[in-house]
Amino acid sequence: MQSPLIQTEWISKSYILGNQELEVLKWIDLQIDVGEFVSIMGQSGSGKSTLMNIIGMLDIPSHGKYRFNGQDVSELSSDDLALVRRQNIGFIFQNYNLLPRMSAWDQVMVPLLYQWVTRSLREERAFEALKKVGLADKLKSLPSEMSGWQQQRVAVARAIVSDPLLILGDEPTGALDSRTGNEVMELISLLHEEGKTVVIITHSSEIDTFAKRHIFMKDGLIV
Ligand SMILES: Nc1ncnc2c1ncn2[C@@H]1O[C@H](COP(=O)(O)OP(=O)(O)OP(=O)(O)O)[C@@H](O)[C@H]1O
Ligand SMILES: [Mg+2]
Repeated sequence: MQSPLIQTEWISKSYILGNQELEVLKWIDLQIDVGEFVSIMGQSGSGKSTLMNIIGMLDIPSHGKYRFNGQDVSELSSDDLALVRRQNIGFIFQNYNLLPRMSAWDQVMVPLLYQWVTRSLREERAFEALKKVGLADKLKSLPSEMSGWQQQRVAVARAIVSDPLLILGDEPTGALDSRTGNEVMELISLLHEEGKTVVIITHSSEIDTFAKRHIFMKDGLIV
C-alpha cells in the first residue's frame, strides 16, 4: 500500500509573544493521499498559512510529527528539509513572488539551479514549462511587462519545472479578478489531472469548487 503523501500527527504551532503563548495550530491530524486535490478554507487568522508552511517545509511545528511521502521529516536539519522541499514541492503564492529584474525564462530556471542540471537542459525545461502555461512567446518578458494573470502563470511554470510531487497554493487567485482566477484554477486542475497532488488555500467559494476535498479551519483546528 502506498503511504499518504502528507501525514501529520498531533501537530501544533505556538508563538511566544512577550510572556504569552499564542497557540496558532492545535492538534492537527491530517492525511492527504497522492493525487488528491484539497482546498483549505477558514477565516483570516485561523491558521491556514501556518499549516501550509509546515506542510511545505517552510516552517516546522512546535510539537508533533510530520511524515512526507513516508519519510519522517520532523527531525531533519533545515538544510535537509530544504533539500526535500526543493525536490518535491512547488509553491504558488498570492502575489506571484517573482524577481523583478528577471525574465520569465530565467525565473522559471531558478528551481533547477539547485539540481544537477546543465544550463541547456535548464533552458529546455523552463521553456517547456512556460509553453505549458501558454507563455512560450513571453520568454524574455520582465514581470513589469506582464499582467497579473501572466505573472501568475510564470509562477505556475516555476512551481512545476522541477516536476514536484506536490503543488501548494496560498491563495493563488487572491490577487486576480474572477475570470483570470478561474483560468489559473483551470491550469492547476490540469496539473491535478496529470497526477499532481494539489493543496490550495482560498477565501473564495467559487475557487473552492475546483477542489475534490474541502478542509475547513477554525481557531487553529480542522473542523
Ligand atoms: N511569526 C508569527 N508570530 C506571531 N504570530 C503569528 C506569526 N505568524 C502567524 N501568526 C499568527 O497566527 C495566526 C494564524 O495566522 P495564519 O497566517 O496562519 O492565518 P491564515 O488563516 O492564513 O489567515 P489569512 O486568511 O489572513 O491569510 C494569526 O493570529 C497570526 O497573527
Ligand atoms: Mg494566510
